[in-house]
Amino acid sequence: MTVADHEWLAGLPARPAWEVQAIVVDASGLDADGCHDRLLGLLDDQERARAGSFRFAADRTGFVVSHAIFRIVVARALGIMPQNVAFTAAPRWGHPPRLAEHPDRLPALSLSHAGPYVAAAIGKRDPVGIDVECRGSLAAWEDVARVILSASERLHVTSLQHAAVRRDAVLRYWTAKEAALKALGRGLEISPDKAVVRLSPSGSPIAVTVTLGGMQVEFDLCLFDPVGPLAAVASVACTRYQALRLACVRAVTLLAAMDGRNGWPAV
Ligand SMILES: CC(C)(COP(=O)(O)OP(=O)(O)OC[C@H]1O[C@@H](n2cnc3c(N)ncnc32)[C@H](O)[C@@H]1OP(=O)(O)O)[C@@H](O)C(=O)NCCC(=O)NCCS
Repeated sequence: MTVADHEWLAGLPARPAWEVQAIVVDASGLDADGCHDRLLGLLDDQERARAGSFRFAADRTGFVVSHAIFRIVVARALGIMPQNVAFTAAPRWGHPPRLAEHPDRLPALSLSHAGPYVAAAIGKRDPVGIDVECRGSLAAWEDVARVILSASERLHVTSLQHAAVRRDAVLRYWTAKEAALKALGRGLEISPDKAVVRLSPSGSPIAVTVTLGGMQVEFDLCLFDPVGPLAAVASVACTRYQALRLACVRAVTLLAAMDGRNGWPAV
């Protein structure tokens, strides 16, 4: 590097370490029954009431695990303890989680859970949406394709040769669209065919454009396989050119990290 280069670089504004953080946590190794009370203890009254409203124990446990993990991830990013994260009381279900002490609603948060996976995203500057889905979860994928895909997406899927590849492509479209619709805070209130996925020349989904009442909202997309190519697929949607930090961790590691500290370092 020449001196001139060095000076030029020094003149650049400092790049933040991250503007969007997305973490997929694999809770499959977690003894959910063994640590149920402990995880429940991290939740607030509102979350406990929701947990108590599930009819089936498996759904209740899934809720407790995913919301406790979500708290841990958000707490870690904020540099506070999980019990101290204060979420707003959602006016009704079907809303993204929000922090109570930020009237401007930033940082923006997004949560997704599927099978043993919990995905959390935090946007420091702008809204963010995350979705995780288990591979093989779309049994009726041809019906789903008919409802969620735009005309060009349908053409792309039908051009693929093998049924397994077509099914995988539909799942990828699904997570991409859901992440973008969650970033808008609307979810499936908006028909997924209004969210059109743009592919790179090599066929990877890279952006989503949502058309709403004649206006277009564009999101950058990061679609990835968080736990190897066969288990799950996840998408993060955020506004353009943000520094994204991605991580995939096991729940047991996350809990051990929480146990080993008196407080979280601000990230
Ligand atoms: C958000 C939505 C797409 C979730 O789909 P999903 O694949 O079943 O679930 P995921 O695990 O990926 O995401 C669930 C989380 O998304 C978040 N979420 C809920 N509604 C959201 C919205 N409108 N925008 C962004 N995030 C939302 C919540 O944190 C929720 O977790 P929780 O229910 O445990 O609190 C779907 O529930 C939805 O569109 N809801 C809004 C519309 C609605 O309420 N319709 C009425 C019922 S048909």
